[in-house]
Parts: sequence; C-alpha cells; structure tokens
Amino acid sequence: MSFVGLVKTFQLSNETDREALLAIKAMISGDPLGALSLWNDSVHFCTWQGVICGLRHQRVTILNMSSMGLVGSVSPHIGNLTFTRIIYLNDNNFHGIIPQETGRLFRLRFIGFANNSFQGPIPMNLGKLSGLDILSAPNNAFGTNGGGNELRNFLTSISNCSNLRILILTSNDFTGSLPHSIANLSTKLTTLRLNKNYISGSIPHGIENLASVSSLQLAENSLEGSIPDSIGKLSQLEQLNISTNSISGNIPSSMGNLSLLYILSLSYNMLNGSIPLSLGNCTKLMTIDLAYNNLTSAIPEQIFGLSSINYFSGNLFKGTIPSSLAQLKGMQVLDLSCNNLSGQIPSFLGEFTSIQYLNLSYNMFEGEVPSEGAFGTRSAFSVVGNNKLCGGITYLQLPACPAKVVEKRKKSFSRRVLIPLISTVVVVFVLLFCLLVVVYQVKRSMQPPSSTSILQGDFPKLSYSDLLQATNEFSSNNLIGEGSHANKSFVAECEALRTIRHRNLVKIITSCSSIDHKGEDFKALVFEFMENGSLEFWLHPRVIEQQDPKILNLGQRLNTAIDVASALDYLHYHCEPTIIHCDLKPSNVLLDADFFAHVGDFGLSRFLSATTSRSNRHPSSSIGIRGTVGYVAPEYGMGAEVSTQGDMYSYGVLLLEMFTGKRPTDNMFIDNTSLCSYAKMSVPDNVMDVVDPRIVVDVEEDPGKVEACLVSVLRIGISCCAELPSERMNARDVLVELNWIRNVLLGGGTTGMGWEETRMQN
Ligand SMILES: *[C@@H]1O[C@H](CO)[C@@H](O)[C@H](O)[C@H]1NC(C)=O
Ligand SMILES: *[C@@H]1O[C@H](CO)[C@@H](O)[C@H](O)[C@H]1NC(C)=O
Ligand SMILES: *[C@@H]1O[C@H](CO)[C@@H](O)[C@H](O)[C@H]1NC(C)=O
Ligand SMILES: *[C@@H]1O[C@H](CO)[C@@H](O)[C@H](O)[C@H]1NC(C)=O
Ligand SMILES: *[C@@H]1O[C@H](CO)[C@@H](O)[C@H](O)[C@H]1NC(C)=O
Ligand SMILES: *[C@@H]1O[C@H](CO)[C@@H](O)[C@H](O)[C@H]1NC(C)=O
Ligand SMILES: *[C@@H]1O[C@H](CO)[C@@H](O)[C@H](O)[C@H]1NC(C)=O
Ligand SMILES: *[C@@H]1O[C@H](CO)[C@@H](O)[C@H](O)[C@H]1NC(C)=O
Ligand SMILES: *[C@@H]1O[C@H](CO)[C@@H](O)[C@H](O)[C@H]1NC(C)=O
Repeated sequence: MSFVGLVKTFQLSNETDREALLAIKAMISGDPLGALSLWNDSVHFCTWQGVICGLRHQRVTILNMSSMGLVGSVSPHIGNLTFTRIIYLNDNNFHGIIPQETGRLFRLRFIGFANNSFQGPIPMNLGKLSGLDILSAPNNAFGTNGGGNELRNFLTSISNCSNLRILILTSNDFTGSLPHSIANLSTKLTTLRLNKNYISGSIPHGIENLASVSSLQLAENSLEGSIPDSIGKLSQLEQLNISTNSISGNIPSSMGNLSLLYILSLSYNMLNGSIPLSLGNCTKLMTIDLAYNNLTSAIPEQIFGLSSINYFSGNLFKGTIPSSLAQLKGMQVLDLSCNNLSGQIPSFLGEFTSIQYLNLSYNMFEGEVPSEGAFGTRSAFSVVGNNKLCGGITYLQLPACPAKVVEKRKKSFSRRVLIPLISTVVVVFVLLFCLLVVVYQVKRSMQPPSSTSILQGDFPKLSYSDLLQATNEFSSNNLIGEGSHANKSFVAECEALRTIRHRNLVKIITSCSSIDHKGEDFKALVFEFMENGSLEFWLHPRVIEQQDPKILNLGQRLNTAIDVASALDYLHYHCEPTIIHCDLKPSNVLLDADFFAHVGDFGLSRFLSATTSRSNRHPSSSIGIRGTVGYVAPEYGMGAEVSTQGDMYSYGVLLLEMFTGKRPTDNMFIDNTSLCSYAKMSVPDNVMDVVDPRIVVDVEEDPGKVEACLVSVLRIGISCCAELPSERMNARDVLVELNWIRNVLLGGGTTGMGWEETRMQN
C-alpha cells in the first residue's frame, strides 16, 4: 500500500465516524430536548453532545445518548464506530431491533440499552465481543417477534464472551426455557438477572458452573421443576431471587453451603417440605422471603439419624421453624406468611434486634405469641390467620394462654447460697434466713470496713460476722458441700465472676475478704440462693423420700442440659477472653426454684486467649490435674493446655450421667469401659436399657418419639466425650441440637410431660 493510500484510508476512517454519527442522527424522529441539533458540522464531531473521542486518533470511543428523550431506531451505521468501547442508549424511546452491525464493534466493553422499547432478538454476533464486560438491557420488549428461541440463541452465543460479568435482561418478553448452555456462560459472571420475562422450563443443573455469580435473579417467570441441589455450589451467591414462579419440591439443604447469602426470596412458588435446618448456616442472611408456598411436612431426618427414623411414622411431626435459624441474628426481613407451618412461634425471633418485617401470617402456628423484642412492636410483625395462637401483646386481642409457672421466679433477697472460702477450705452454705437483717445492719454500720471486696463495682458489703450470723455460725445444717481449694482459686473465681453475666450462671451477690475470729484469713463469695440445690442431689439422692421423691423428668433433664450448654456457649464464645470452666460436674450445676440450671464454682476457671499475659497469674502447670476425676478430659492428664474442648468432655460426661443416672466413677466401669463407651454400645437400638429408669415418661407420650430423642441426646454426649479433643462437638452446636430436640418433643403436641408449662418460654 502506498503512503498516499495509507493516509487516505486513515482519513476515511476518520470521516467514517462523522458519517456514522450523522446517519444515527438521521434515524431519530423525535428530539424534544434538541440534543442532536447540536450535531452539525459547525464544530468537530468529537465535541458533539454525548460523543467522546480518543485523543490520538480522534475516533469515537464513547457514545452516550442516555436520557436524551430520543425517539427512533438505531442506524446500522453504528457498526462503523469501530473504536467504541462504551455505548449507552439508556432511558430513551428507541424501538425496533438492535442492528446486527453492532457485533462489529470488537472493542465494546459496556452496552446499556435499558429503558427503551427495543424488540426482537439481541444479535447473536454480540457473542464475538470477547471483551464484553456488561450487557444491561432491562425494560425493553426483547424477545418478541422472533419465534421463541431468542433467549436460548442469545444465551448460547453470549457464552463466547468470556469476560462477561454482568448480564441484565429483566423485564423483557423472552419466552422459552433456559438452555443448558447457560453452564458455558463466562465463569466471571457475577450478576445474572432475568426477572420478569416469560421463561418456562426448569432451572438447569448446569447453573452450578457459574462459579462467580453473586446475584442470581429469575423471579416472575414461569419456571417449573425443583431448585437443583447444585445451587449449593454457587459459593459466591449473595442474592437469590426465584420468587413468583411455579417451582415445586423441597428447598435444597445444600443452600446451607451458601455462606455469603444475604437475600433469599423463594416466595410465591409451590415449594413443599420443611425449611432446611442447614439454612441456619447462612449466617449472613438478612432477608428470607418464603411466603406463599406450601412448606410443611416432616422435620428433617438428620436430626435423629437414619437408623432411628423408622421408630415413628412420617406424619408425626409438623413443619416448624428450625431452631437453627436462631443463628441468623442479623435478619431484617422474614416473611413466612401463607404456608402450612405449624408448631410454636420460636421466641428467638423476638431476639432478632435488626428485624424490620416479620410476617408469620396464615400458617398453622399454635401456642403463645412471644411479646419480647420484635413481638413487642405491633408494626414489626404480623401473625394473623393462625387460629391456635394465644397471648402476645394486647393489640393482637388473642385469648390468654393457659397459666404458666414461669412468672413465679421471684427475686427473693432473704435466701442465698453462700460459698465462703476459709483459707484453704471451701465450704458451701445455705442461708435460710437473716440476710435481710444482715444487709440492714451493714447499711447502718458502714464505718468498720474490716472486710474488703475483691470484686470491683457496686456490690453490697458484708463482713465476717454478718456471714457468721447469717449461717448460724456456719452450722452444718447449712452446709451443702465442701472441697479443697487454694487461695488463688478465690482470686481466679473473682476474676471470672467480675466479667461474666448470664442467666445460666450463678449470680454473685458480693464477696468478703476478711480476718476470722481466730485471726486467720477468711474469704467468701455470696451467691444468689438456689432453692433446689445441686444437680448432684437430684441425680443421686442420698435419701429416698417417699412423699416427694427427688426425680427429674425427661423434660427437666433436657432443659438442664440446654441451660448448661447455654452457659458454656456463653463462656466459650461470648466472653472476651474466652473462659474455660475446668470443673464441670453435677455438683457445680445448681437448680433454682423453677429448675432453671445455673453453672457455678469458677474456682478452677481459666481465661484462654490471654494465656501469655496472664500466665504469671495462672501458671497452667502448677495446678496439676484440673477438674474432677471422671469428668476431666483425658488430655489434661497428659499435660495438655486447658481448652474449650476440655470443658466439652466434662459436659459430655455430665450429659450421659444425667440421662443414664450412672456416675462416671461407678464401679461397673472397670478395665476399658467407661460411661461413654457404655452409652456408645447402646446406641441406637438399646438405649432404653441404659437410660435412667427414673425418667418419668407420661404414658400419652409417643414412646417412639421419646426413644428417638434419647438416642439423639446420647449421641451428643458420646460425641462430646470423644477421646480426641478435635472430634468433640462444641457448645454452640450442642445448644442448637438440644434446642431442636426439645422443640421436637414440644412441637409434637405433648401434654402432661410436666415441663412445658414452666419452660415454654425458653
Ligand atoms: C482526522 O484525524 C486527524 C488526525 O488526528 C485530524 O487532524 C482531523 O481533524 C480528523 N478529521 C476529521 C474529519 O475529523
Ligand atoms: C450547530 O451546532 C452549534 C453548536 O455546536 C449550534 O450553536 C448551532 O445552532 C447548530 N446549528 C444548527 C443549524 O442547528
Ligand atoms: C458504514 O456502515 C454502513 C451500514 O452498515 C455501510 O453501508 C457503509 O458502507 C459503512 N460506511 C463506511 C464508510 O464504511
Ligand atoms: C430505568 O428506569 C428505571 C425506572 O424509571 C430507573 O430507576 C432506572 O435508573 C433506569 N435505568 C437506567 C439505566 O437509566
Ligand atoms: C463462538 O466461538 C466459536 C469458537 O471460536 C465460534 O465457532 C462460534 O462461531 C462463536 N459464536 C459466536 C456467536 O460468535
Ligand atoms: C455442601 O458442603 C458440604 C461440606 O463442605 C459438602 O459435603 C456438600 O457436598 C456441599 N453440598 C453442595 C450441594 O455443594
Ligand atoms: C400443599 O400440600 C398439600 C399436601 O401435600 C396438597 O394437598 C396441596 O395441594 C398443596 N397445595 C399447593 C398449592 O401446592
Ligand atoms: C397443610 O398440610 C396438610 C398436611 O400436610 C394438608 O392436608 C393441607 O392441605 C395443607 N394445607 C394447605 C393450605 O396446603
Ligand atoms: C403479611 O402477609 C399477609 C399474607 O401474605 C399479608 O396479607 C399481610 O398484609 C402481611 N402483613 C404485613 C404487615 O405486611
């Protein structure tokens, strides 16, 4: 090619852009804002409104005609603007088809056709645009007049665009089904929105290939079939909206793998089955909309394990809200209206502090409507159309619930448990009277502060003589237990107690550090009185009383197990630093008047995360064996550091002891057997042989269900006392599972088991 020829070509190309722009202008019939009247040769085309050129070649690189109020169609000359990287025609009144020639713009990265009246197919040769990043064409009439294969063909061709990240075709007229070739769409695709079309057929399994997709929206179409299990593989998914289709089947439990999901909308479909337990793992969820489905049916099998599920018939359980959802504390919108959900309204929903919209209307929920948290604000929730509900805030005008014993928990100040530590001996006392007097006296005679409080903060002051008097000179009648502890355990306990506060931990009233009558060191911690003493007393009564035998029924044992797990969950996950109790056993679990359990005795407790800075104070090696024989984790005996898993071992033993009635130190456990292996051998077929025969089960209770629950409980205990610390369940999971088991027992229409009246709230 000659030099002249080269220049000529160049000039032609340069000229071509001008001609193309004028040709585009020529196809515009309406220009109410006069934007294109300025497109004339009095100035260079690179200065025309909406036109941006590259500096070097004076070629059009950006054509932005958005929101100019233009009416008309797009000229095929657009295909001559070959330097163009961006074309925005958004928000105009363009109609007709997108010219094939657009596919020649091989430099195109962004295409915006939103809010026009474009029709027909999107040209398949856009598939040649290997650099295409965003194609956004919502609110048009694409798909019409093309025979129904427009979507299929387009999605197939666009799979060549390996850099495509965003594809938005919401509110068009696409028909037909999603092709399997959807699996071949760019692996960089983050956003696929096809809402509000007429798409039919099912969601292809190949959708799992869209590994980067974070927003998948297929709402308001005519999709059928079920949600593919493989959806759980879209690990980047944050928003999933499939509402208003005709999707049936179950919500796949694989959705529990979508750890980033924060919006889930499956409303207005025909989904059935239950809400999968695993959804509780999607802890980022803020919006769950499952309204207008047919969610019901059995509780997921995994809770009892497959071997035990054959104990009871499939219809025994109704669909309840899984307690695992309690973990979704950041929830803002939860719409479960118009399903077939039954059981109690879980009170944990009231604890969702961020919730703005909670709609449980038109289901078959029954029992008490909570009145805490969201349930206290009438605009925040709706429960209409559930005929068996009672209670709640007065605005609801529901009938009162049957009386409960819960409110009886009075804050008696006259009775306390006292745990004084006298130099090297811990003595635990029960104060039956006098404390009111004592406190009065103390207030009257503030001047001799012979006692000091190691606890900092606002605690009442008590002196040695106050306590002496209150306990009838530490009379043995008031003794509920004793043990040997070093002075430093007092400090450890004070350290721990100063920071912690939880409904399932004993509440400290005050401390006393003083000199006794003999001039020796005297230290005491005063705790809230626990009317029903320690769990030890209940599991292994010393005297069998004829009239009022001390027996805990199944429900009470389950509640106690939950309370203790809840205390551990708090110590392990909600305290900073983490606190390890180190001495969990029945005698350190105290029961109040209403059989709420409170974990006490922090004399051996340890702060975990600050081991380095605190190691001077708590040299972990100097204490020797930490805890009590039978309950102490095996690795402690081999010198391992204290750990949350160590506590879980003790918890496992405690749990098994509670349900078998056997102490871990029972004579029957000799050689290589242990309480744990004993329980293990019984699961799942012979559990009834090992459970404590004193567990009273109401005859009306379905024995199959009770047995299944016992199997589940024992399994938890067995898992906790696994030899390897890493194999043990953690407190959080134990809590979720036990709550679930309790809900199963409660939700199954229990009457007369004797605990639900007192504990429906928790
Ligand atoms: C074509 O490009 C050249 C080189 O940048 C420039 O000088 C000239 O003005 C352009 N011609 C037109 C018609 O835009
Ligand atoms: C041509 O464009 C210029 C500004 O670019 C404008 O001032 C002028 O009025 C336009 N001419 C016509 C005939 O519209
Ligand atoms: C520009 O495009 C049109 C329509 O596609 C075509 O007919 C024409 O030949 C092109 N013009 C130039 C100068 O290339
Ligand atoms: C399209 O129209 C909607 C509704 O008026 C508007 O919210 C949206 O911003 C528009 N989209 C674009 C890209 O202009
Ligand atoms: C997609 O790429 C393949 C292979 O390069 C090619 O054969 C096919 O024609 C392309 N399809 C489109 C629509 O560009
Ligand atoms: C979910 O994750 C679990 C554990 O990572 C895995 O075993 C399972 O296959 C996953 N399910 C799906 C559908 O991806
Ligand atoms: C809901 O499920 C019940 C029981 O399976 C069934 O009879 C009913 O037709 C279902 N309703 C819808 C709308 O799918
Ligand atoms: C609710 O579930 C029951 C039992 O599965 C079924 O008989 C009933 O038709 C369902 N109700 C609705 C409204 O789907
Ligand atoms: C709750 O859902 C029902 C049924 O979908 C609906 O009629 C009602 O308006 C909703 N309540 C609120 C407060 O939005």
